[in-house]
Amino acid sequence: MKIIVAKNYREMSERAADLIFAEVLLKPDCVLGLATGSSPLGVYASLSTRYAEGRIQFHDVTTINLDEYQGIDGNHEQSYRYYMNQNLFQHIDIQEKNIYIPDGLARDPHKECLRYDQIIHEKGRIDLQLLGLGMDGHIGFNEPADSFTTGTHLVKLDPSTVDANSRFFKRKEDVPRYAYTVGIDTIMQARKVVMLVCGAAKAEIVQRAFEGPVVPQVPASILQLHPDFTLVMDQEASSMLMHSGHLL
Ligand code: F6R
Repeated sequence: MKIIVAKNYREMSERAADLIFAEVLLKPDCVLGLATGSSPLGVYASLSTRYAEGRIQFHDVTTINLDEYQGIDGNHEQSYRYYMNQNLFQHIDIQEKNIYIPDGLARDPHKECLRYDQIIHEKGRIDLQLLGLGMDGHIGFNEPADSFTTGTHLVKLDPSTVDANSRFFKRKEDVPRYAYTVGIDTIMQARKVVMLVCGAAKAEIVQRAFEGPVVPQVPASILQLHPDFTLVMDQEASSMLMHSGHLL
C-alpha cells in the first residue's frame, strides 16, 4: 500500500489525476473504474483541463462506474450518470458506447446486476479503479456487513450514508434508499486501485480502515491486501494515522 499525503484538496486531486493520466498515456484503450461524490470532482476537473490542453485523449478509453441510485433516471440531477456527464464526460472525447453505469430505472434489479457483471466480465479486468471512502468505511456502496459482498447487487443504504447523501437533495425524503453497486470482488480484481480521501471528518475511518484489522465491518480495510493500492489524501484525513513509514 502506498500513501500520498497532499497539502490540500487541490494537490490531492492533481496527484490522483497524474496517476490516471499516466494510465491513459501508457494504455490508451484502458478500462477505468470511476466513482462519484465530492472527492473525485477535482480529479475530473483536472483531467478535463488536460484534455482541453491537448495533453490526453479518451477516445479509446472505457469507463465502468461503481454505482448508481435505484429509482432515478440518468437525467435526474442527482443521478450518478448526470454527475459523470456534467463533471467529466461532456468535457472529453470519450465515446458514448464506452461508458457504463448501472441503469437506475431497470425494471428487474436482478437482471440489471447480471447484465452489469456480464459487461465487467467482457471488458476484462479494470486497469485502474478510482474510489472514495464512505464515512462508515464503504467502498462503492458496499456497506459494512458480516461478509465481503461479491457481484453487482442492490443495497439498502446505511442510514449514515443516506444522511451524508442528503446534502445533495432538497429534502431528505428524496434521497434514494437503494443503490446498485459493483461487488468488492470487482474492486479487488482491478490491476490498480487509487482512493481519494479528504477532510478531518474522515481521519478516524482512514485510521480504522488502514491500520485496523481487515474486516467486512469496515469494507475498505480489504484494500490493505490489494497488491497495487494507492491512498491519496489530504493532511487532515491522514491526521490519525500512527505509522508514517510508508508515506510518499
Ligand atoms: C460514489 C461512491 C461512494 C463515495 C463515498 C465517498 O460513487 O462509490 O463510495 O466514494 O461515499 O463520497 P464523498 O467523496 O462524497 O465523500
